[in-house]
Amino acid sequence: MKPTFSLRKTCISFNLLTLFLIIFVAIHYADDLSWSFIQPFQIIQQKPTSRQRENKTHVPFAVGETTGGCDVFDGKWVRDEVSRPLYRESECPYIYPHTCEEHGRPDRGYQNWRWKPHGCLLPNFNATFMWEMLRGKRMMFVGDSLNQGQFISMVCLLHSVIPENAKSMQKFDSLTVFKAEEYNASIEFYWAPYLLESNSDNAVIHRIPDRIVRAGAINKHAKHWKGVDILVFNTYLWWMTGAKMTILQGSFEDEKKNITKMETEDAYRMALKTMLKWVKKNMDANKTRVLFTSMSPSHKKSEEWGDEPGGNCYNQTTPIEDPTYWGSASSKGIMQVIHKVFSKMKVPITILNITQLSEYRKDAHTSIYKKQWTPLTPEQLANPLSYADCFHWCLPGLQDTWNELLYAKLFFP
Ligand SMILES: *[C@@H]1O[C@H](CO)[C@@H](O)[C@H](O)[C@H]1NC(C)=O
Ligand SMILES: *[C@@H]1O[C@H](CO)[C@@H](O)[C@H](O)[C@H]1NC(C)=O
Ligand SMILES: *[C@@H]1O[C@H](CO)[C@@H](O)[C@H](O)[C@H]1NC(C)=O
Ligand SMILES: *[C@@H]1O[C@H](CO)[C@@H](O)[C@H](O)[C@H]1NC(C)=O
Ligand SMILES: *[C@@H]1O[C@H](CO)[C@@H](O)[C@H](O)[C@H]1NC(C)=O
Ligand SMILES: *[C@@H]1O[C@H](CO)[C@@H](O)[C@H](O)[C@H]1NC(C)=O
Ligand SMILES: *[C@@H]1O[C@H](CO)[C@@H](O)[C@H](O)[C@H]1NC(C)=O
Repeated sequence: MKPTFSLRKTCISFNLLTLFLIIFVAIHYADDLSWSFIQPFQIIQQKPTSRQRENKTHVPFAVGETTGGCDVFDGKWVRDEVSRPLYRESECPYIYPHTCEEHGRPDRGYQNWRWKPHGCLLPNFNATFMWEMLRGKRMMFVGDSLNQGQFISMVCLLHSVIPENAKSMQKFDSLTVFKAEEYNASIEFYWAPYLLESNSDNAVIHRIPDRIVRAGAINKHAKHWKGVDILVFNTYLWWMTGAKMTILQGSFEDEKKNITKMETEDAYRMALKTMLKWVKKNMDANKTRVLFTSMSPSHKKSEEWGDEPGGNCYNQTTPIEDPTYWGSASSKGIMQVIHKVFSKMKVPITILNITQLSEYRKDAHTSIYKKQWTPLTPEQLANPLSYADCFHWCLPGLQDTWNELLYAKLFFP
């Protein structure tokens, strides 16, 4: 905790005496400044003069800051039946067809958890405020179906303050756009499961057994992101084929394709670096923000959290309590690649480090409570475990928390 920092920020006059006083207070009362734990997200009017004096580059969209350098991703789940969920499934028409309640999920407990960082409280999500900040702007989620889930969660959190006749949701191939007319603002999703060009890019038919990613090729997708003000990327699941990645050098149109095999981590690193290069060239760090969501965990092996073997996320109704829990489906190697690539970068990209906090939520998956695209066989029906989806998440639910964290990082970095 660094209380001197927030104190310094609130101070407008800056003669020497004040400075002495502040240093004195900071040194002698550092342990007593408990208010910074109670009200950790200060909305501080940034005076240009004080900013210059601070010699701190201004972060676009920021209106305040997290005091004490609190790590919002380090915390625990607390039961909250009063303020969670943030909306009801029936109040958000955009969740369909992945509506868990409508598809018969019997328990609701998974909706009543609030994320509590150890060092502070998360700011309250204020939809009107967010629309005002997004006025005349575009925010886009780019990635796979998990990022699509986060997109839908964001729309669910935001749409209720927009009147019925002033909003729309439209789909154009890989791009889905939610528009709020009065704000001339949009929240969008673009399907690109590898970020790079691949043979799984079709927004509808993309379940291809032999996946091929084209090295260094991002522009075919990225031309649809140009001009966006806030970009939120993710990519993970599609890389985890259990074998080396098939990489195409050159183009899909080449008559004689140059195909090479690459270790998953190397291929993943290559993709992140290509994305970073694009961001550096195309995103103005003074006006735009770029965020990257870390891996979304899955829960397919009950023995990993100490249950009888043979189970999975089906029938799970409570989070995992072991704070060190980390399932085998989340690659520590990939997490290190993310950490390494992003810590070395010159362009500011915010990591939404949601992996650890989502590891605990074996109860939050869609499981069997979603639309089935192919009819289930009698054998499957007799054994729900066999077709439970332990990758995706019910809404309202876990991904609303990811967006609360996004909100915190965007406005109170
Ligand atoms: C910020 O501080 C650095 C190091 O003291 C200095 O080189 C730089 O010119 C300063 N920038 C501004 C805008 O004052
Ligand atoms: C992500 O957050 C967890 C929990 O605070 C932490 O243990 C981990 O080191 C973080 N990882 C990165 C890459 O920041
Ligand atoms: C939400 O934000 C709006 C616009 O900034 C503000 O007028 C309103 O008071 C906020 N609501 C709450 C509950 O803080
Ligand atoms: C609406 O927002 C777009 C950017 O998304 C901007 O180019 C355009 O000028 C805005 N239109 C109005 C009327 O403000
Ligand atoms: C295929 O791509 C690799 C990696 O870029 C390159 O080293 C190799 O020369 C290429 N082979 C052909 C036949 O073009
Ligand atoms: C960002 O703003 C700073 C200070 O206003 C300026 O010096 C810098 O050139 C700007 N960067 C870009 C890429 O426009
Ligand atoms: C699911 O939970 C219920 C109630 O706890 C239990 O009766 C049932 O056997 C469980 N089913 C499976 C497949 O674990």
